[in-house]
Amino acid sequence: MVKICCIGAGYVGGPTMAVIALKCPKIEVAVVDISVSRIAAWNGDQLPIYEPGLEDVVTQCRGRNLFFSTDIEKHVAEADIVFVSVNTPTKTQGLGAGKAADLTYWESAARMIANVSNSNKIVVEKSTVPVKTAEAIEKILTHNSREIKYQILSNPEFLAEGTAIQDLFNPDRVLIGGRETPEGQKAIQALKDVYAHWVPEDRIITTNLWSAELSKLAANAFLAQRISSVNAMSALCEATGADVTQVSHAIGKDTRIGPRFLNSSVGFGGSCFQKDILNLVYICECNGLTEVANYWKQVIKVNDYQKNRFVNRIVSSMFNTVSGKKIAILGFAFKKDTGDTRETPAIDVCKGLLGDKAKLSIYDPQVTEDQIQRDLSMKKFDWDHPIHLQPMSPPASKQVSVVWDAYQAAKDAHGVCILTEWDEFKTLDYQKIFDNMRKPAYIFDGRNILDVEKLREIGFIVYSIGKPLDPWHKDTLAVA
Ligand code: NAD
Ligand code: UDX
Repeated sequence: MVKICCIGAGYVGGPTMAVIALKCPKIEVAVVDISVSRIAAWNGDQLPIYEPGLEDVVTQCRGRNLFFSTDIEKHVAEADIVFVSVNTPTKTQGLGAGKAADLTYWESAARMIANVSNSNKIVVEKSTVPVKTAEAIEKILTHNSREIKYQILSNPEFLAEGTAIQDLFNPDRVLIGGRETPEGQKAIQALKDVYAHWVPEDRIITTNLWSAELSKLAANAFLAQRISSVNAMSALCEATGADVTQVSHAIGKDTRIGPRFLNSSVGFGGSCFQKDILNLVYICECNGLTEVANYWKQVIKVNDYQKNRFVNRIVSSMFNTVSGKKIAILGFAFKKDTGDTRETPAIDVCKGLLGDKAKLSIYDPQVTEDQIQRDLSMKKFDWDHPIHLQPMSPPASKQVSVVWDAYQAAKDAHGVCILTEWDEFKTLDYQKIFDNMRKPAYIFDGRNILDVEKLREIGFIVYSIGKPLDPWHKDTLAVA
């Protein structure tokens, strides 16, 4: 029986290994982590992450061929294939701070593998890492090898949160990079055999190590670039009277462009896009490719511009001040169907409004008060580190209250902001919300999920990203 061990029981390690265990009943899969509480949650009734369909997969194979454990050394020692799916956040200090990937967690995992191994192993990079990381890992392993042979593979993960299980069941492609030696090719084949249990062979792509590592950064950069492109267009739409949803639809009909990933928004969030582009920028700079670095940097600049623009629009339309005004924030997660708040645009929007002394009442169906207070008190990039490695909760801010109901959030508010596209926000009773708000009552839809005309009929002053503006907004001060 092949034994797999995955180091890192997070958003990637947990779901990915659960699906491997489900699809390969003859493979024993152990997922290990330094976090005792995270492992306890994986073994309990309340899984540590919210992901549609995940619970069903875990309950089918947990205790059968899927195990969650903190006994890292034992499971690594026994494994034939070791996946490393630890976090690789942006460095916050020292060389490359604010751009380069922090490989501390990766390096400590690699050193631990070297220490405890007593049989040959395939070590798989599942985390997103800078191109050439495999070379560094190889050095750590071989310089501490005690005659043990290691093959390093790059097998980046392309799942998106909220759709992780369906992405894993039916991936567009699985990418495996390895050394172009007979041993390297044998290792690639061994990993291919695992995925071949459910992924059609023509969707399993094999490359050299560096292409696989770089493809992951490139894929995220291309996806994020699409969002910044449509968001840049949204600003022009507002200035000209065009409607960004109509423009997206029209350009998406071109089969060379395609319809997906063209939703204009308050900005992209999530733990991957910004971090991976910054990492890409850093690698370009280290290779003397300033123009290439500047090109990708612009994707992040436009994303920051979009978040600022949204805050400025709110403040300027409310007579240029939100001081002391209650503003309801509907949605805090970085997208729907997840409780993840890493790099969520809601953090920047809320901080912008708090900076103008607003009082916020926040509701998200999946994010706890503790998490929201922590996110709003942290410095940039600090929230990119795992929650259990973060300091204790800060004292709750008096300007922020967190409630468990959208109507309560909006009661007596001057404005409502939609920051996450949760389905339940589409079907709220907006007449009821309007009746209980201060007047004039504003709605700022940062996800373009609401029926603007209907809201205007109710009496709201409406701003929806990239849509033709109310005369009210046209008359208020020009925004940046
Ligand atoms: P995460 O923070 O949710 O999980 C990482 C886990 O690794 C944590 O639970 C942490 O405790 C554990 N860990 C860290 N060091 C360890 C060690 N030495 N030994 C044992 N456990 C250790 O992160 P994630 O979202 O699962 O991301 C993991 C990697 O996958 C990152 O490189 C990320 O860029 C990449 N990725 C993430 C996504 C996503 O949607 N979240 C998608 C594709 C790729
Ligand atoms: C992303 C990649 O999609 C995935 O392949 C990779 O493995 C990890 O990073 P994720 O961050 O989980 O996945 O979610 P994604 O669906 O890509 O959304 C990222 C952000 O972009 C979210 O804030 C989302 O709301 C935003 N977005 C997405 C838009 O604003 N408009 C869109 O059209 C699509």
